[in-house]
Amino acid sequence: GLNLVVLASGRGSNFKAIQDHIDRGDLAAKIQLVLSDHADAPALDLAQAAGIPQAALAAADYPDRVRFDLALLEKIKAVPCDLIVLAGYMRVLSQVFIKEAPAPIINIHPSLLPAFPGLHAQRQAVDYGVKVSGCTVHLVNDILDGGAIIAQRVVPVLPGDDEDRLAARILAEEHRLYSEVIGKIANGQIKIKDQSVTILD
Ligand code: GAR
Repeated sequence: GLNLVVLASGRGSNFKAIQDHIDRGDLAAKIQLVLSDHADAPALDLAQAAGIPQAALAAADYPDRVRFDLALLEKIKAVPCDLIVLAGYMRVLSQVFIKEAPAPIINIHPSLLPAFPGLHAQRQAVDYGVKVSGCTVHLVNDILDGGAIIAQRVVPVLPGDDEDRLAARILAEEHRLYSEVIGKIANGQIKIKDQSVTILD
């Protein structure tokens, strides 16, 4: 199976959804390590409970972003890694990280990119008044939420939605889409080379 390293800053529901798919036997992958930039991230407790190695690095312990990212890379390079999976990882990665990473990096974002990049994508969608939004899995490059799009799923924005209701509806779709994409990378239906994606049918 595909060896994954997951980076998560917070709640960790996307990490958990991937692990659940693996446990159910419908995703041929193994999460080798969960890393966080927050020692108190619930994602780390979930990893520990699942018996997955996990570690946290604090930005305050490093002089700058590059040094922090190099420490992160060192941890990643110490385990088998075919794919780096950002799952609610809220720190922008430096160019050095992207260049030196031992495997492709993918991210999931709670909007239909290129609409609503950055923080609070679901609130941006509600405030704008769009009638559909969704989620996007994309390659990570040095432009924030700007890498090649791998897959998208549409979610309706319903009358009366606020940020939280829309976020919950999108999140349910994220939990399906991310594992689907990782599964297709694992079985060769999605091929990633440098910053380009090829999808075979
Ligand atoms: C998810 O909705 C994810 O798409 C979003 O943060 C949430 C993390 O939830 N990511 C971003 O906004 C990245 N810019 P989780 O910790 O429960 O997986």
